[in-house]
Amino acid sequence: MPASVVVGLQWGDEGKGKTTDFLSEQVAMVVRYQGGDNAGHTVVKGDEVLKLHLVPSGVLYPHITSVIGNGVVVNPETLIGELDMLAARGIDVRRVRVSRSAHVIMPYHVALDRANEARLDGAKVGTTGRGIGPAYGDRAWRLGLRMGDLVDPEVIRGRIERVLPDKNLLLDSMGANGFDVDALVEKAAAWGERLATHLDDTTWLVQSALARGEHVLLEGAQGTLLDLDHGSYPFVTSSNAVAGGATTGGGIGPLQVDEVMGVMKAYATRVGSGPFPTELTDDIGEGIRERGNEVGTTTGRPRRVGWFDAVPTRYAVAVNSVSSIMLNKIDILSGLESICLCVAYECDGRRLDRWPSSAESLARATPIYERFEGWEEPLHDVRSLAGLPENARRYVTALEELAGVPIVLVSVGPERTQTIERAWRPMRRAPVRV
Ligand code: IMP
Repeated sequence: MPASVVVGLQWGDEGKGKTTDFLSEQVAMVVRYQGGDNAGHTVVKGDEVLKLHLVPSGVLYPHITSVIGNGVVVNPETLIGELDMLAARGIDVRRVRVSRSAHVIMPYHVALDRANEARLDGAKVGTTGRGIGPAYGDRAWRLGLRMGDLVDPEVIRGRIERVLPDKNLLLDSMGANGFDVDALVEKAAAWGERLATHLDDTTWLVQSALARGEHVLLEGAQGTLLDLDHGSYPFVTSSNAVAGGATTGGGIGPLQVDEVMGVMKAYATRVGSGPFPTELTDDIGEGIRERGNEVGTTTGRPRRVGWFDAVPTRYAVAVNSVSSIMLNKIDILSGLESICLCVAYECDGRRLDRWPSSAESLARATPIYERFEGWEEPLHDVRSLAGLPENARRYVTALEELAGVPIVLVSVGPERTQTIERAWRPMRRAPVRV
């Protein structure tokens, strides 16, 4: 019963969409297990660039069932928009299945997220403004609406009548507009009608696929350093992006996972606030941002850019039990005279090899760098490690040694074919369903 987890090892935006896309021929089902439309996956297919926020990128393949698991918070409007966009491109969206237990992001969650960020001002998290925190908050507080509830207007009304007075009070105290019960009930019931045929018991969908011996891929959103428990709290998202989140949010048990592929970029990026020890605020950083097109898929915000930081990588490898790594965007580093790699921090006069997940300690950390000579050559056409310029090879070897896990895939461009595939234990092939 092979299940693989694809997990980000940095602050998100590591290129997990490309990883899933690359592996998708071998899998029968792709499951999103946490996050919401704060995520953005860019998938390049020929001339087409598709931006998806909720639907797993495997949807582009007719043999794949795309599952939005119970651990996801769903903005139905975004989901409907994506389904319509995909259908307009001739993609069969009946294979998109949504857990009845996934929580709904309501308009008041979005309003609360934005009003709260405005109130926090200089201390804001820099959220995507998609209502993620308030929706997960209500889930934990047992005040949420679940996707399955949307098909019953009576249930919708009951839930909304119970929570809306408090939400409106809070919004009012923050100077934001409140909502009307009837209008929300009508909206939610319309979502339910539209999405009813996509709702499913996704735990059993996943379990049945595994029982048939099909390969299931569980796709994480964001990354380990944004994980609610393991990231640089409070500058994190509100879900468990780590591989463990795949079990609670995807409906599988820990022993059903037989591979965890960690995904990382050859440099670091971060969107939103929070400490970022290797951040580059100079022309080198600007150049990487431009060449790497480092702009948030969801918000259009320029991403903060920095050198690769091996300190959190070691932590990420450990907490995710990463068994293999895909290294993305090494091509973006071509043309740099030298490349720095952070191997440890200096913090309060001491060397620190372990990642402090407290934002306060991290803010005081100064990187200790190892410097590597750069390379001039573009890498887009390289298809083997031996074909890489020697300095690029040295850099990849150093990353692999620091991570302590084999780098089995190296991406040298956005296209699926622009990938160096090393000899590795291949994912077991499942019969392709037609
Ligand atoms: P939220 O998830 O919108 O609440 O935002 C919390 C933090 O996570 C902010 O710093 C966001 O910029 C960051 N974040 C959320 N989703 C993503 C993502 O998909 N990529 C990168 N950063 C993200």
